Amino acid sequence: MKAWFLSLVALDVVRNVLAQNIDACPGYNATNVSNTRNGFKADLILAGPACNVYGPDIAKLTLSVTYETDNRIHMKVVDAAGPRYEVPESVFPRPSSSDGSRNSNIQFQYTRAPFSFSITRKDSNETLFNTAGFPLIFEPQYLRVKTSLPPNANIYGLGEHTDTFRLSPDNTTRTLWNRDAYGVPNGTNLYSDHPVYFEHRSSGTHGVFLLNSNGMDVKLRSASNSTTLEYNVIGGILDFYFLAGPGPLDVAKQYARLAGLPAEVPYWGLGLHQCRYGYQNYLDVAQVVANYSAAGIPLETMWTDIDYMYQRLVFTNDPQYFPLDKMREIVKALHARDQHYIVMVDPAVGVKPGISKAYDRGKALDVWIKNPNGTDHLGIVWPGVVVWPDWFNSKTAAYWANEFKLFFNPQTGIDIDGVWIDMNEPASFCTYPCADPYAEAVSQNMPPNRTTPPPSATSQLPIPLALAKRANNYSDVLNPPYAIGNVNAHLSDKTAFTNVVHANGMIEYDVHNIYGTMMSSTTRDAMEARRPGLRPFVITRSTFAGAGAKVGKWLGDNLSTWEHYRVSIAGMLGFASIYQIPEVGSDVCGFGGNTTETLCARWATLGAFNPFYRNHNGDTSISQEFYRWPSVAQAAKNAIDMRYRLLDYFYTALHLAHTDGVPVLQPLWFQYPKDTNTFGIDLQFFFGNSILVSPVTQENVTDVSIYLPNDTFYDFKNYAVINGTGSTVQLSNISYTDIPVYIRGGVVLPLRVQSANTTTALRKKNFELVIAPNRSGKASGSLYIDDGVSIQQQRTREATYTYGDKTLKVNTKGSYDVGALKYQSVKILGVTTAPRQVTLNGQRAEVVYDVGAKVAVVSLSQPLGSSFTLKWS
Ligand SMILES: *[C@@H]1O[C@H](CO)[C@@H](O)[C@H](O)[C@H]1NC(C)=O
Ligand SMILES: *[C@@H]1O[C@H](CO)[C@@H](O)[C@H](O)[C@H]1NC(C)=O
Ligand SMILES: *[C@@H]1O[C@H](CO)[C@@H](O)[C@H](O)[C@H]1NC(C)=O
Ligand SMILES: *[C@@H]1O[C@H](CO)[C@@H](O)[C@H](O)[C@H]1NC(C)=O
Ligand SMILES: *[C@@H]1O[C@H](CO)[C@@H](O)[C@H](O)[C@H]1NC(C)=O
Ligand SMILES: *[C@@H]1O[C@H](CO)[C@@H](O)[C@H](O)[C@H]1NC(C)=O
Ligand SMILES: *[C@@H]1O[C@H](CO)[C@@H](O)[C@H](O)[C@H]1NC(C)=O
Ligand SMILES: *[C@@H]1O[C@H](CO)[C@@H](O)[C@H](O)[C@H]1NC(C)=O
Ligand SMILES: *[C@@H]1O[C@H](CO)[C@@H](O)[C@H](O)[C@H]1NC(C)=O
Ligand SMILES: *[C@@H]1O[C@H](CO)[C@@H](O)[C@H](O)[C@H]1NC(C)=O
Repeated sequence: MKAWFLSLVALDVVRNVLAQNIDACPGYNATNVSNTRNGFKADLILAGPACNVYGPDIAKLTLSVTYETDNRIHMKVVDAAGPRYEVPESVFPRPSSSDGSRNSNIQFQYTRAPFSFSITRKDSNETLFNTAGFPLIFEPQYLRVKTSLPPNANIYGLGEHTDTFRLSPDNTTRTLWNRDAYGVPNGTNLYSDHPVYFEHRSSGTHGVFLLNSNGMDVKLRSASNSTTLEYNVIGGILDFYFLAGPGPLDVAKQYARLAGLPAEVPYWGLGLHQCRYGYQNYLDVAQVVANYSAAGIPLETMWTDIDYMYQRLVFTNDPQYFPLDKMREIVKALHARDQHYIVMVDPAVGVKPGISKAYDRGKALDVWIKNPNGTDHLGIVWPGVVVWPDWFNSKTAAYWANEFKLFFNPQTGIDIDGVWIDMNEPASFCTYPCADPYAEAVSQNMPPNRTTPPPSATSQLPIPLALAKRANNYSDVLNPPYAIGNVNAHLSDKTAFTNVVHANGMIEYDVHNIYGTMMSSTTRDAMEARRPGLRPFVITRSTFAGAGAKVGKWLGDNLSTWEHYRVSIAGMLGFASIYQIPEVGSDVCGFGGNTTETLCARWATLGAFNPFYRNHNGDTSISQEFYRWPSVAQAAKNAIDMRYRLLDYFYTALHLAHTDGVPVLQPLWFQYPKDTNTFGIDLQFFFGNSILVSPVTQENVTDVSIYLPNDTFYDFKNYAVINGTGSTVQLSNISYTDIPVYIRGGVVLPLRVQSANTTTALRKKNFELVIAPNRSGKASGSLYIDDGVSIQQQRTREATYTYGDKTLKVNTKGSYDVGALKYQSVKILGVTTAPRQVTLNGQRAEVVYDVGAKVAVVSLSQPLGSSFTLKWS
């Protein structure tokens, strides 16, 4: 290792010259091509003199290409000399399917010398990805793959980010290196790592996923005659999946099959959540719950931030401010009213021997991440000096589950219904090299305590050397030669250091970006162990590809600004429609800084169309619970009324996401993929696939310009027909308690006839069916019902609705007991002449026609579990 490092220094001059034009690097020649069952393998030999841009070029690589399904090609390039780091199966289980054929809908083509490859569509020969002219570079700490793109390409994904949903192809660098990013600045690396993008063209949509958790920059560049996308990755291997589409929904489903279908959330998780950092004591918490009741705003779940902890230590409660008996009383009261309770848990465990029992137990089991010399790696988080659980240690899952079992014990501890995990990038308050964390913690005024000596090296269990030496041939994991665009100067700033070693020998340099996702799955398991069979409700800050199979995600520490209100839509669309984490939402009314009455009112209404709907606030901000201003209270009530009546439609959408990967929020181009006007829209979106939400987006105005595709819509509130013409429409006089919501023609919506104070009460409300025909007079929809909480459902019930030729057919199957619930009415929208006669299963039924609204209302009393046919003429 040392030898090449010295020769590197000698090559410095050459390297600097080459760095100017790495497109002049030799690339590789493909040789020894041999067919496999459904693909091929080849050797890639360095084609000419090494260019050693950021380290020595690796002489020989192995390429494998597999047609895994007819819509998915898997391409892998590894070092022929031996294994390098790959994202572990335990973190990202690979799909088992590999029954694709070479007759796949997308084709892999390549040139041997120098090696380049392209992905094309079988039907049209359209090129989707093409590396010609851009040599592959493969070095220990630098991998480069670059593709041409069409001019003005429509690229979405590569998050987490707060840039526009459609990334500018002109000059965007997306850096993926998970980071505690207070204020979520745009153009920077944030909490999560999702190296996947969808590219959309009028001719089709495809997806590209690079399964690699190392730090990287993905650069989009446009020059007069070319547009390109370039991966610059600082470790691991090239592990690409190409997804054929051809429609946006097809790509979404294909990515879900690859990354893991999203977990179902409990029905109650869709209710309104209230939180803030800075509730001083249990009385504050109880008071907020009482105030929501008094204001008549349905509060489903109360939350508590780190305030409840004793000296901010996880798995403790402050005996003076949040005494256990009082907290248990609050939880009991909440549960008695069908409300819920959630608290925060951080991964960092305070180094407080004797005070933190969680520390003592973890220390005894030796489950912390380690420095290269085998000592516990220390950082600084809320309790001061901390250690972090090593999710790769085989004892950690049991340790974590046991802490949950002890502290959140329903009989003796705090009986939480869900859990909120934070600071799991992992975040630290210390900047590299953080030479004296104890001194630093004091100077930062984190619980100052230097009386406990740092753990001595002799008390540590050494890392088994046999495992530790599995590290890659990286020359420098602290200062890698290629510097990604991390906001912090150093990769190890404000996080666990990149030279940290895990129990399986992996180094933090490689696995940093999966720490949060590993905490997520371990926490989900711990929650499930407490209450076997019940769907865990876990909301995390840091995610990697595939996290949606386990948890939901909130968009982190935004600010109470109009800019962040607007950008929250693109943020949610990224997670719900691309990354397959449907349970997502922003901190409603904003976290940092002070909100205003009008911002909070607008956000209360927009938030009602976040899958995860939570008002959350920073500790130094003014209070912002919805009841603080009459206008905001009214806005929240109006919006919750809409949300709750739509809740089963949305729950059905979540079920479809779980079973098939259909996104629960969709950008307009998912529904109108040929309408180029929709490609850049990220201030309007579909909630489910049929509810068009178009919030007011500017401060101090009551109007908004919205785009309406060439299609029929209906106002959700008065059912008025709105004819879209593929143009911008100005909406005016939208009060602060309102939000424009339209139904897309073509859907049958099952709505609860009324909202309720809790989702438990909501589940006892009857339904109405709203038929919103499209221009061909057709509509369809579905309803999925189950018990709302079990992972495995013994019985479910599904209804499908088909409407056409003035006939509605309701088909219901399944045996979940829906009790006495029924359909109370059917409303047919856009009816231009009064129906002469309506029959229900052949029997005459009562109909009332509203000529002004053009709505025919058929009253009925049809059991929810029944199938029936309704005709009118
Ligand atoms: C790679 O292929 C090119 C073109 O055929 C050839 O000139 C070159 O010598 C090859 N390199 C190696 C290492 O075989
Ligand atoms: C695509 O290319 C192949 C091979 O060059 C050719 O045989 C085929 O006809 C082309 N198809 C279309 C639709 O252009
Ligand atoms: C691209 O963006 C970077 C970072 O914002 C900026 O410094 C640079 O000037 C931009 N380049 C062009 C050509 O616009
Ligand atoms: C960040 O937001 C500002 C203000 O809206 C905007 O001018 C800038 O272009 C944005 N930058 C990126 C990278 O999106
Ligand atoms: C783009 O233009 C540059 C400079 O004129 C030229 O060197 C390059 O070959 C062109 N690329 C393509 C793809 O035409
Ligand atoms: C420091 O910790 C010790 C126990 O280890 C405790 O007795 C003491 O009160 C703490 N000091 C401060 C200033 O928190
Ligand atoms: C082990 O490494 C850590 C981090 O570099 C350092 O602070 C500590 O002093 C070292 N301990 C020993 C015993 O070498
Ligand atoms: C928020 O308002 C409080 C109370 O008026 C004030 O003390 C604080 O400075 C404000 N914070 C910001 C960031 O403006
Ligand atoms: C909105 O109105 C408030 C109160 O009049 C004012 O302070 C604020 O500057 C206005 N904002 C904008 C963007 O006009
Ligand atoms: C709108 O759609 C209809 C078909 O529904 C089509 O006849 C018409 O040409 C379209 N108008 C525009 C402006 O695209």
